[in-house]
Amino acid sequence: MTHETIVVLDFGTNTAQTIARKVRALHVYSQIKPYTIDQEDMQNIGARGLILGEIPEKFPLNLIKEVANKLKTLEIPILGNEDHPVFLSLLEAEKTNLHILPDQDEKDEVLEDWLYKTCALKGDWSMKSFLSEEVERIKKLAADKKVLCGLSGGVDSSVAAALLHRAVGENLTSVFVDHGLMRKDEGKQVVKLFREELNMNLIAVDASERFLSKLSGVSDPEEKRKIIGTEFIRVFEEEAAKLGTVDFLVQGTLYPDIVESSGATGEVIKSHHNVGGLPEDMKFELIEPLKELFKDEVRELGLELGLPEHVVYRQPFPGPGLGIRVLGEITKEKLEILREADYIMRRELAKAGLERAIWQSFTVLPDIRSVGQLHGRRTYCQTIVVRAVNSADGMTAQWVQIPFEVLEKISNAITKELPIVNRVIYDITSKPPATIEWE
Ligand code: XMP
Repeated sequence: MTHETIVVLDFGTNTAQTIARKVRALHVYSQIKPYTIDQEDMQNIGARGLILGEIPEKFPLNLIKEVANKLKTLEIPILGNEDHPVFLSLLEAEKTNLHILPDQDEKDEVLEDWLYKTCALKGDWSMKSFLSEEVERIKKLAADKKVLCGLSGGVDSSVAAALLHRAVGENLTSVFVDHGLMRKDEGKQVVKLFREELNMNLIAVDASERFLSKLSGVSDPEEKRKIIGTEFIRVFEEEAAKLGTVDFLVQGTLYPDIVESSGATGEVIKSHHNVGGLPEDMKFELIEPLKELFKDEVRELGLELGLPEHVVYRQPFPGPGLGIRVLGEITKEKLEILREADYIMRRELAKAGLERAIWQSFTVLPDIRSVGQLHGRRTYCQTIVVRAVNSADGMTAQWVQIPFEVLEKISNAITKELPIVNRVIYDITSKPPATIEWE
């Protein structure tokens, strides 16, 4: 089914995505297209309206004129014009603190009127309809074929796997590689949800010893990343090879990956395919069931599929996991301290109702010892860093002002429950100049 579609023209600023997302929040499907798009492509899309995205300063005047002339021939409503292309009334300034994550679902009356009155649309975009159409599409494409999905426990792969399972059932096999660098009980939760509750074919590999031994003696962050990444692919490959022929591999590519890989002029800037190192002689096609969706739509789809909130609203978690939060060499003992501290912090944040108000929150084990005192005795123990940031896309981030009383509870709980820690510090740096992770 083709949906009513609005095209947002991208002139090379990142606000096109915000605008497109706002259109979809009003139940109208939107696509972002480079400003260089030609008439024929526009006609193929069958756009019912066009929105001029923000035009960057110093954008060549003659190009703007060219685009404007081309647009006039389309005979569809256009929002914004060459004199007022900056569609700022729709854009929320990025806000930085608790409870005020950018709310892309906030309705905008100007936009709503334009879509429903000027363009006379009905609004036929919903996650429910997307889900049923996508399930039908995949059924036609991959019925009776073998489908393989790498499941990390993150939002995208969880939603993609649940969607594929709905479409091809038994023919889907998911592989979860536990590298031993997950947070507390995460591996168990993945198995419980996907295998026991959703009845999916799940191969769960506990490769923690293998990863730990490869990482032994390694303290350079980039080397750690490389080892974890390479080993991950190896384990995945070994499991995939055991399955014999696979027809399709599921990828959790999202719409922003597609948009960003083409850019405002339509040239390929970076490849979005991160099938990463899978052997070239492995013959399969890719299924990318989320490639039309924004991140928050993926969450909505997850809820529609019946996935629990703790999966759907899971914070971003780096591929190398706790491995880049234990600074320097990784050992089992250090991982255990960090894992427990991380668990305590998340528990206290959840108790304070703050878990979902923060984009990313975690602890770091800097592996420094300092002097302390307990029951009148001198201690010389570990330090735990607490870090919490809000961000839209991870490129920049602001440290979050967690209320002091919550920080106090976190600190008290960590030092009480983990006697090996005698000092808790709070990271109050934004990105830049810091990065979100410490390694
Ligand atoms: P930084 O530390 O670069 O992090 O400010 C930005 C975002 O990326 C995540 N991150 C990673 N994700 N592999 C990943 O899959 C990595 O090696 C990696 N390093 C950082 C980080 O958690 C944050 O969300």
